[in-house]
Amino acid sequence: MLSVALPKGRLGDKVYRLLESVGYGCPELLGDSRKLVFENEENGVRYFLVKPSDVPIYVENGAADVGVAGRDILLEYSPVVHELLDLGIGRCRMAVAAREGFRDDLTRPLRVATKFVEIAKRHYAKKNREIEIIKLYGSIELAPLLGLSDVIVDIVETGTTLRENHLHVCEEILPISARLIANPASRQFLGNEIAELAGKLKAAIERCSVGKGN
Ligand code: PRP
Repeated sequence: MLSVALPKGRLGDKVYRLLESVGYGCPELLGDSRKLVFENEENGVRYFLVKPSDVPIYVENGAADVGVAGRDILLEYSPVVHELLDLGIGRCRMAVAAREGFRDDLTRPLRVATKFVEIAKRHYAKKNREIEIIKLYGSIELAPLLGLSDVIVDIVETGTTLRENHLHVCEEILPISARLIANPASRQFLGNEIAELAGKLKAAIERCSVGKGN
């Protein structure tokens, strides 16, 4: 049986629909329950529902054979996993944002609020800009509004959160999308099962992009 770490929430719903469309459904998962483990013996799949940023931890440690994680999480935590496929869903971008009219004062370190400390550090190291990191865990957009930081480094999907808080994108850092990842040892023991899953997902994504005329 193949164990799959599935991110809970917005991304997880899209990922599950994609898995279901290629024969890895588990209808019980859609029910209104607090269960975290779901099995479908017929399809040979067992799902674990985990916090999106924890997916690579389960996969890296072999608690799950495969999982789906955003590129943001993979770049931030650099887990030792194999990245098998860009699923093309959960598309968004990592960006620097600030209040309207913000001007960087180069005579002092730039104060950067973010959940993505490593991505932010790498971005500013490339530019040789000295920074002070303010690590937050959510509602990052508040930091520049309250004068806690000069800018934020965060995910922008529709741009609504920035707009409604009078912030704007100053710089794009990276495009983000969801990736299928695998535990390296599982790829040896369950190589055929993992390759079959990745192959079916790849074919479904290609069919979908042809359908959209891409
Ligand atoms: C993410 C991100 C932004 C928002 C961007 O937050 O941190 O706040 O989504 O989406 P938008 O461009 O479509 O408005 P999330 O909803 O994950 O909550 P968080 O505050 O806990 O980070």
